[in-house]
Amino acid sequence: MQKNIESVLIEQRRFEPDPAFATAARPSATEVVRLRERAAEDPQGYWADLARTHLSWQRPFTVTLDRSQAPNFRWFTDGCLNVSWNCLDVHLEQRGEKTAIIFEGEPGDVRKLTYRELHAEVCRFANALSARGIGSGDRVVIYMPLVPEAVIAMQACARIGAIHSVVFGGFSAVSLKDRIEDAGAVCVVTADGGWRGGNIVELKAATDKALTEGCTSVRDVIVLRRTGAAVPMKTGRDHWWHELVEDMPTDCAPRWVEAEHPLFLLYTSGSTGKPKGIQHASAGYLLGAKLTYLWVFDRQEADVFWCTADVGWITGHSYVAYGPLAAGVTIVMYEGAPMFPDGGRFWRICEQHGVTILYTAPTAIRALMKLGDEIPAGYDLSCLRLLGSVGEPINPEAWMWYHRVIGRGRCPIVDTWWQTETGAMLISPLPGVTATKPGSCTQPLPGIEADIVDDAGQSVTTPEAGGYLVIREPWPSMLRTIWGDNQRYLDTYWAKFQNRYYVAGDSAHRDADGYFWIMGRIDDVLNVAGHRLGTMEIESALVAHPRIAEAAVVGKQHDIKGESVFAFVVCRGARPMGDTGAFEQELRDWVTQQLGAIAKPDDIRFADNLPKTRSGKIMRRLLRAIARGESITQDVSTLENPTIIDQLRG
Ligand code: WT7
Repeated sequence: MQKNIESVLIEQRRFEPDPAFATAARPSATEVVRLRERAAEDPQGYWADLARTHLSWQRPFTVTLDRSQAPNFRWFTDGCLNVSWNCLDVHLEQRGEKTAIIFEGEPGDVRKLTYRELHAEVCRFANALSARGIGSGDRVVIYMPLVPEAVIAMQACARIGAIHSVVFGGFSAVSLKDRIEDAGAVCVVTADGGWRGGNIVELKAATDKALTEGCTSVRDVIVLRRTGAAVPMKTGRDHWWHELVEDMPTDCAPRWVEAEHPLFLLYTSGSTGKPKGIQHASAGYLLGAKLTYLWVFDRQEADVFWCTADVGWITGHSYVAYGPLAAGVTIVMYEGAPMFPDGGRFWRICEQHGVTILYTAPTAIRALMKLGDEIPAGYDLSCLRLLGSVGEPINPEAWMWYHRVIGRGRCPIVDTWWQTETGAMLISPLPGVTATKPGSCTQPLPGIEADIVDDAGQSVTTPEAGGYLVIREPWPSMLRTIWGDNQRYLDTYWAKFQNRYYVAGDSAHRDADGYFWIMGRIDDVLNVAGHRLGTMEIESALVAHPRIAEAAVVGKQHDIKGESVFAFVVCRGARPMGDTGAFEQELRDWVTQQLGAIAKPDDIRFADNLPKTRSGKIMRRLLRAIARGESITQDVSTLENPTIIDQLRG
């Protein structure tokens, strides 16, 4: 982490907002000042106004915020609405024939759906779910490729009040099983497969595997035909999507739900134990997703918005499936790998579909930057007007490249900080309003009381001094709890400062202009290519291997992925010596099978034991220094086993 801090500290470049930058839904500079004042004086009034203006309610709310069970906050509690209605039906009159989704499959197939067609497909699938006996409050796991049907399935759940839990298609059968079981899902929606890097990701096979190992709650599996590959279908349990929807009406009355009705669960990694099911509520979440879309992406009717994230992550929920649809814009969805079949794929998509706003992750930017300036120079990117970044701190070099080579120096960059838990962006520039600095997510959005505090919970006011990133006041799109484990919710996000503020788990500092610079996670969570991984999860996966006795996982800086997984491993019996390549590969495959390919360690080092304190705690800081090839500055004489250091160094 030290290295990152230095590189941001010397960053002095500043890009002033372009006053000519288009504005429609986004507040002007003066309006932003006014909004901030209003939010500070009367936060509830501020949010209530926005919720009335931007959401369509079946029954209006009178209670804005219920703090009676703080920190389990509840918003707009007596109001009723339907999220899918707010994303689709509200547009039918004015935008029925407008393209909602431009889909490009990895093999190159292109499909477009208008808002009317999307509405009809969502209704048909919602009716099919209802016909299977799935109703309000039931959990539906969605394990699909990034195709329109993934969004259709999510919206269909929202339409009938079912709670979806999307599991990223790159996760393994074991991870899928854990999530299905934790959620108690009654249905899994999947596909025969999806295309990725020229190969088929066998989603149905993984689903079958997950279901043979338990998951007794699942009654129905719905399978989309995507690749056409033959897959076994289990009579009574498995149904083809196209057969189920065939005779279904293209209209489906929405199920009006209370504002706090859970919209979805999304599992994410924490520092301990199994992934936690982050639970979001209908109204507050949608308000956050829509409002930040309008403001941060400067909503224009003619925009073609491409967020490259998979719907398996929160970014794909808020800025593929919900926010932009609620805002009535055209979105692009691309199924496959960013570099398939070559490094020009992204830019070809931008050119061909006239993308005006591109929202992607620093890891993708770095990977594309590595291929050089010539590839993007070969494409007409003149449609682009705004660029976004999310998922991890963007290094100033990558920011500058994005700005210069992709944005051709004309497009503002919005570096947006947020989390699965926050539901929507919380800290971000507003294009045309906020001056940007490469590597800084700039300032909290109006209404968001972000702060940096020290161990005692005191606000850190010295410029450049680091601390914990916290949010002092509740906001509508915040998580409501962890599914089935409210205690963990309280412990993870609130206990550190006695429930006074939400603790994000990141460290950050502020410069003299009050700009936020995110330094990274303070807990044992890694950020590998913008994906959150708990070190404990990977350790548990390794230890589940019959030959492994103990494991410790740390992050190591990586040029493209930001961080990579470095595992220190103690075997049962003797330490493997000589050429350990084959065994390392076996362990990588093992982790891939247990968790998914994103979690597999790049580096594996075998040792006789791990460095521990006398109380038996693994000294991760020491392991991190070793993994990164840094010199060891800490006192190792108190180690239980100081001689181990040389062996760990390899
Ligand atoms: C963690 C949340 C938010 C969607 C993608 C990740 C890191 C996210 C930024 C940013 C610096 C960032 C933080 C955060 N992060 N965006 N713009 N600058 N760091 O969601 O998987 O819940 O991960 O990603 O460390 O805590 P997530």
